[in-house]
Amino acid sequence: MQNKLTVRALQWTGSTLKVLDQRQLPKKIVYDEYTDAVGVNEAIVTMRVRGAPAIGIAAAYGVALSIRKHYAQSNHWRQKVEADIAMLAKSRPTAVNLFWALDQMKAVLAKPLNNFPAAILACAEKIHSDDIAANHHMGELGADILADAQGVLTHCNAGALATGGYGTALGVIRSAYKRKHINVYAGETRPWLQGARLTVWELAQDGIPSTLIADSAAAWLMRSGAIDWVVVGADRIAANGDTANKIGTYSLAMLARQHGVKMMVVAPTSTIDWDTRHGDQIEIEQRSQDELLPASYIKNNSPVRAWNPVFDVTPAGLISAIVTERGVVLNPAGQGVESLKNAV
Ligand code: MRU
Repeated sequence: MQNKLTVRALQWTGSTLKVLDQRQLPKKIVYDEYTDAVGVNEAIVTMRVRGAPAIGIAAAYGVALSIRKHYAQSNHWRQKVEADIAMLAKSRPTAVNLFWALDQMKAVLAKPLNNFPAAILACAEKIHSDDIAANHHMGELGADILADAQGVLTHCNAGALATGGYGTALGVIRSAYKRKHINVYAGETRPWLQGARLTVWELAQDGIPSTLIADSAAAWLMRSGAIDWVVVGADRIAANGDTANKIGTYSLAMLARQHGVKMMVVAPTSTIDWDTRHGDQIEIEQRSQDELLPASYIKNNSPVRAWNPVFDVTPAGLISAIVTERGVVLNPAGQGVESLKNAV
């Protein structure tokens, strides 16, 4: 199990991007193949691919496909690629890895180069491989912290499916489980059910047993004493340590504080938005009410509406540890994550 490759959400074939359609898991494993940025954009918007690092990596490959398509065929290739970058930047608003990855691409485009397609592709592939390496390193750092833990609860899917591979929160859980048995609980993660459809499936692929709970069972689980840590990923971490993650994370952090359970956020530094001082400045994505409403209410004259914010912000004061590939910040309240900015 130790060296086995985890499931891959994204596979670069040499000329196309294969994306595992996560909407069909766990019933079917279907890869869609994309040849242009428009297709990759659609895959992100429709959540075939999701999870902050994976969104950034997919977008980077989207730019590689864009330049592959336009470079040799048009004198206006640069405008066309820039238009594709602008389109990709609108695909989802909260995960900062998307904007970080597109900025890396723009930096390559700004260089005086002879072979832009090769340089852009090399950058996308580096973003992908760096993310996997970061996850393995964070896995070990987080597992050190979990040395005495008997049980952990995770939320959403912050695994191989949400990243280049191995996972952030699930990377820590994988690494901890390699060292000793821990009981892994996963919340369903309403309304899109990333926990129920993706996380427990992904863990099962690696032979790691897990227990699914309804999100509303979390307080009772904590009260039972079964868990020591909540371990989650992040979509954007503000400079002060406030952390945006899947809706429900804030509730878990509040419950954890009440029950003496610790809260760990695991994310690469590409998830830190140094320009955002605190969590109130993070844009929270609102998705269609159709994702939440039973079908019978989805009609024009229905008096029933749904409110569907898909992320929330956990204040730094409720977080016990932020684990990144550059190191760990314990109790980030007050100091934030500034110490990681120039760390290597
Ligand atoms: O809306 P999603 O499924 O893209 O949201 C994903 C999450 O919130 C994850 O927990 C987060 O991106 C961390 S991924 C390593």
